[in-house]
Amino acid sequence: MRRGLDHFPFPVMAERAWSKFYIPGGKAASASYKTVPMHTKDTPRELSELCILANFVEVFLAREGHDNPVGINYLEKIQIPHLPSLYGAMLAGVGYILMGAGVPLKIPGVLDLLSCHKPATYALHVTGAEDGDDTTMTFVPSEFMERELVPLVRPKFLAVIASNTLAATMVKRANGRVDGFVIEGPTAGGHNAPPRGKLQLDEAGEPIYGERDQVDLGKIRELGVPFWLAGGYGSPEKVRESLAAGATGVQVGTAFAYCAESGLREDYKQALLEKVVTGDARVATDSLASPTGFPFKVAKLEGTLSEREVYSARPRICDLGYLREAYRDTDGKIGYRCPGEPVTVYLSKGGQLENTIGRTCLCNALVATIGHPQVRCGRYVERGLVTSGDDLAGIVRFMPQGELNFGAADVVNILLKN
Ligand SMILES: Cc1cc2nc3c(=O)[nH]c(=O)nc-3n(C[C@H](O)[C@H](O)[C@H](O)COP(=O)(O)O)c2cc1C
Repeated sequence: MRRGLDHFPFPVMAERAWSKFYIPGGKAASASYKTVPMHTKDTPRELSELCILANFVEVFLAREGHDNPVGINYLEKIQIPHLPSLYGAMLAGVGYILMGAGVPLKIPGVLDLLSCHKPATYALHVTGAEDGDDTTMTFVPSEFMERELVPLVRPKFLAVIASNTLAATMVKRANGRVDGFVIEGPTAGGHNAPPRGKLQLDEAGEPIYGERDQVDLGKIRELGVPFWLAGGYGSPEKVRESLAAGATGVQVGTAFAYCAESGLREDYKQALLEKVVTGDARVATDSLASPTGFPFKVAKLEGTLSEREVYSARPRICDLGYLREAYRDTDGKIGYRCPGEPVTVYLSKGGQLENTIGRTCLCNALVATIGHPQVRCGRYVERGLVTSGDDLAGIVRFMPQGELNFGAADVVNILLKN
């Protein structure tokens, strides 16, 4: 972080965050992390600064040591941090912005404006909003700039899509250039697009996908923009198949999530790699877990929230709030709620009881999964939840015989083998 912050173009802002949050030697294991304000439409300046800085550092560090372009991925549905996050990533020279989990029609135009340090706006989806309500978020780079900068490179924009209709809509109606698509199927790790039509579940409670969920690559090719395939494409055979189908490449997540460089907690990583070797790795599509409402892939692992008892033992607490939904309250003001928060609180905000069932606090769980679990009252330590694609078992192809360890470069080298 320090190395990244030392290269941040606005040092006073970087120092503000450093002096407030840096603890020499690290925090005590039983101490809680400091909390920061939650995102709201008119986000406090401190939070915008943290978004700019965090995205800058993430991209800066990923760009070190090579000349290849680096992309960063956002979920459209998590709208409030978009503008400062994009600007921070762009200040670090991000080459690609990838966005799914929604319809990111207005992002290309935002990239055009931010690359010239011009003010940009983004409409916040507010459930129940009425005509005349102010739902526009505004970000003015000059309010954060400590000196003039030359224009930034406008990153390429790739929309992550799971249907031909969405691809065609993006090309026709986006407010700027769409440079390509990542076509992600329902076997991919993380969040998945829900099946088309009425949600039907199989005996294990997993969503059933059918013919209508298949993307017609012929129609994608007709759009004339590059595309990448994702969801179970992490093998040399699948790379070859994709290139033969006209794809520019593939997007792989699961294999990299388990490599030595990944930020996945080491004990979780090792335990799951052992399951991969013994043939016991299991992944389920949970249609309820994510407060976003999108199906979410969960790897079964003892001690994580994938287990019913661990899930039930967690007190419902909402203190990060990244996945909160904005809604119009009875006074016409914007309120924020999450189906993963305490049920009575959610209901008092007009939320529906059925939305709370099975919901997991993904915010705290995923932060715990990368090794930063919040500690409460010095005792309760948040548990993690690991997401993986359906082909978790297939990552055995990257593991040298007898070793539970492989690097990101091994993955790339094996994938590119002809
Ligand atoms: C741990 C993990 C986290 C992911 N998070 C995101 C995400 O935040 N946004 C997104 O669009 N895709 C996300 N994905 C999906 C990947 O970007 C990629 O499309 C997918 O992993 C490819 O399929 P695979 O899992 O079979 O390799 C995630 C995947 C994994 C494994």
